[in-house]
Amino acid sequence: MAEGNTDTKSSNQMWGGRFASGPDAIMEEINASIGFDKKLFAQDIRGSIAHATMLAHQGIISADDKDKIVHGLNTILSEIESGNFEFSRQLEDIHMNVEARLATLIGPAAGRLHTARSRNDQVALDFRLWVKEELQKTEAMLTDLIAAFLDRAEEHAESVMPGFTHLQTAQPVTFGHHCMAYVEMFGRDRSRVRHAIEHLDESPIGAAALAGTGYPIDRHMTAKALGFREPTRNSIDTVSDRDFAIEFLAIAAICAVHLSRLAEEIVIWSTPQFGFVRLSDAFSTGSSIMPQKKNPDAAELVRAKTGRINGSLIALLTIMKGLPLAYSKDMQEDKEQVFDAAESLELAIAAMTGMVRDMTINTARMKAAAGSGYSTATDLADWLVREAGLPFRDAHHVTGRAVALAESKGCDLSELPLADLQAINPAITDKVYDVLTVEASVASRKSFGGTAPSEVRKQIAYWRARN
Ligand code: ARG
Repeated sequence: MAEGNTDTKSSNQMWGGRFASGPDAIMEEINASIGFDKKLFAQDIRGSIAHATMLAHQGIISADDKDKIVHGLNTILSEIESGNFEFSRQLEDIHMNVEARLATLIGPAAGRLHTARSRNDQVALDFRLWVKEELQKTEAMLTDLIAAFLDRAEEHAESVMPGFTHLQTAQPVTFGHHCMAYVEMFGRDRSRVRHAIEHLDESPIGAAALAGTGYPIDRHMTAKALGFREPTRNSIDTVSDRDFAIEFLAIAAICAVHLSRLAEEIVIWSTPQFGFVRLSDAFSTGSSIMPQKKNPDAAELVRAKTGRINGSLIALLTIMKGLPLAYSKDMQEDKEQVFDAAESLELAIAAMTGMVRDMTINTARMKAAAGSGYSTATDLADWLVREAGLPFRDAHHVTGRAVALAESKGCDLSELPLADLQAINPAITDKVYDVLTVEASVASRKSFGGTAPSEVRKQIAYWRARN
């Protein structure tokens, strides 16, 4: 490699001999990844410092060269961080950009950094480090979102709302219970994130191109320096593997699906027809023509981001499908998918956390809706089973007749006169009215995980201890 102005040369020219002229424009355009993989600069430099330190420790390079390399790399790090680094597309990717600059800064010692290393294990390392940090960030953001839900659940452990199936009123539940459903969902997402961190916590550096290396390197040393549990065990797999990226995207996709269901509920709940919640001004917009409107744009965009994130997962699965071992350049296409999905997911979680914390809950509207649509019909049937000894199927039939009668009279179940109920089944007494209110219905559902406020409070305590 020539010294001096190497950063202006193409990577092919850096390799010399075989490539007489630089790649033509189209080749450069399709080949270059610097436009997006510059995001990996900090990981690339950390990895190189750990590698150079290990090389010197093993006597593969001199301590003097190592010092020059580390110093040069730290200079490059601050150049990039302060925006004083010129990325060159001719140099293809972040690895070659950093190495070329290092040569300009420190001269021939720079050429020793790539001893016992290939860009194949280098990129696997950089990207793994990046995904690991992103997973850690995601874990913290999910913890925040869960905390927001726990606060709302505590506040509304007794607030009654209609529970739905098929989006039809089913049985009364509490808003706190509904919030806790999301705590379970995002709690599962967070535990998937934690497992993924464990899966990827192996250091790829030292696998070299694919076969390992003849130099007496110490992969345990670099693994430790870079915060990995241990080195990977098979050099071929190491440079072929992008499971960690696919796993990130799969987790992101599942989490995005959860976020989109929440987004959809917020869109529905904030309509004037439902009126269950009012979004804060911070998370809604007005209409340029209709002054009365308050649109749930943030929720809609969270719902839409799910499409992008799911798309990224499918894209990377398809990129990796059928690739022979070991590295193929196809794998360069892994990064944009992950970067885009990560940005979308971060935004979506942050927006949802804000919305959940800020939205005003209209408990009166929720309660009124909870009592409509014959939501306590199951309670009437259960009462007939318990107090009159009817088999559940018969009680279901009797209750169906009571609902039909109430419907024809345009009233609620609890408003039917006792005589009407007794005409349907003489075993009914006025005690039945005690179970027909939404509060009584909710309070009765004390089964483990049920909607009774006492039960919801237990679940809140369970999660508080774990959040
Ligand atoms: N820019 C490449 C990537 O992202 C780095 C690895 C290149 N390795 C190679 N053998 N061409 O995958």
